[in-house]
Formats: sequence, C-alpha cells, structure tokens
Amino acid sequence: MYVREAQAQELDAIYAMGCDVWSDDLSYEEYLNVCRNSEKYQAGIWYVLVENDQILSSLIVYHDIFGLKDDCFGIGSVATPNSLRGRGYATTLVNLVKDELFFYHNGKAIFLHSDIDNKFYSRLGFVEIKGTGCMYISNRHFGFDGSVPAYF
Ligand SMILES: CC(C)(COP(=O)(O)OP(=O)(O)OC[C@H]1O[C@@H](n2cnc3c(N)ncnc32)[C@H](O)[C@@H]1OP(=O)(O)O)[C@@H](O)C(=O)NCCC(=O)NCCS
Repeated sequence: MYVREAQAQELDAIYAMGCDVWSDDLSYEEYLNVCRNSEKYQAGIWYVLVENDQILSSLIVYHDIFGLKDDCFGIGSVATPNSLRGRGYATTLVNLVKDELFFYHNGKAIFLHSDIDNKFYSRLGFVEIKGTGCMYISNRHFGFDGSVPAYF
C-alpha cells in the first residue's frame, strides 16, 4: 500500500468517493460536473492510497492558498469508496500524507476543517483550535500564532 499524487484520468473516480455525502440534491452527472469545474479542487493536489492498482482512498492537499502560511498545508475532502469504508484506508492515507508533507515538503503544520466527528482526526494526532472546527497537527518547529486558515 502506498501513496502517490493522483493522475488526471483518476479524478472522476476520486470525486465519486464522496458523492454520497457531498452531492446534495444533484444527480451523479451534475455532481461530477460541479467537481470537474471546481476552482477549489483545481487549486489543490489530489493524493491517493493505492494497492494492486486499486485506489482505496483519496484526499486533496492545499498550499499557499486559503491563508495557509509558508510551510503550512491544508488537507481536505478525505473520502473512501462506500464499499471499502471501515478498513483503515483513510487513516492510512492521512498518516502517509502527513509523513510526506512533514518529511519531503518541509511542512511544519497541516490544517483541516472537519465535516465529521473530530474523534476521527484527533486519533491521528490533530488538535482542535477551540471553537473553530479547524484542526491542526504540527512539528516542533511550528509556533502557532492563532490564525485560522479560511474554510477549504
Ligand atoms: C470518513 C471516511 C473518509 C472514513 O474512511 P474510512 O476509510 O472508512 O476510514 P477508516 O477505516 O480509516 O476509519 C474508520 C473510522 O472513521 C469513522 N467515521 C466514518 N464516518 C464518520 C463520520 N461521519 N463521523 C465520525 N467518524 C466517522 C468510523 O466511525 C470509523 O471509526 P472506528 O474505527 O472507531 O469504527 C469515509 O467514511 C468517507 O469517505 N465518508 C464520506 C466523506 C466524508 O465525510 N469525509 C470526511 C471529510 S472531513
């Protein structure tokens, strides 16, 4: 199992992973079109967890946008296909992306805005910035100044 950046032809499959919670009242095709045209999605880099050529989970990484400071990253849109949930794939993906950003991209802190119970992310070491819904994890070189990135 490993993590890599997603390829362009994988994006529809990635968008489909969160369709059950993020499509609102849209049809599947309408939802895909919204995702394909999303400026937010175009501003980030998608990462996927892969095993035997199968994509098991995905998330997007933001940098230099949404008020994220130098050396800070944002992660979002974590999703696993419905049929593969509950097997630890999102946990593995977030952990591997964390390592990638801290060790290979000199990240000092990673922020996220949780749409789900914070417990999922606090188990992974993220701490909540009280009263904001925003969480972060940092290394020892990061001095948090209290500024919260915009929602992403
Ligand atoms: C949340 C999600 C990414 C978890 O993926 P996964 O591969 O099943 O995750 P894991 O197997 O690593 O972890 C499963 C844990 O996530 C928890 N979880 C799943 N959905 C949750 C939710 N809506 N609120 C809180 N926790 C949730 C499960 O309770 C489970 O905890 P347990 O191990 O104590 O039973 C997946 O359910 C999903 O794609 N949901 C739809 C998109 C979404 O809401 N993403 C979150 C954006 S912040």
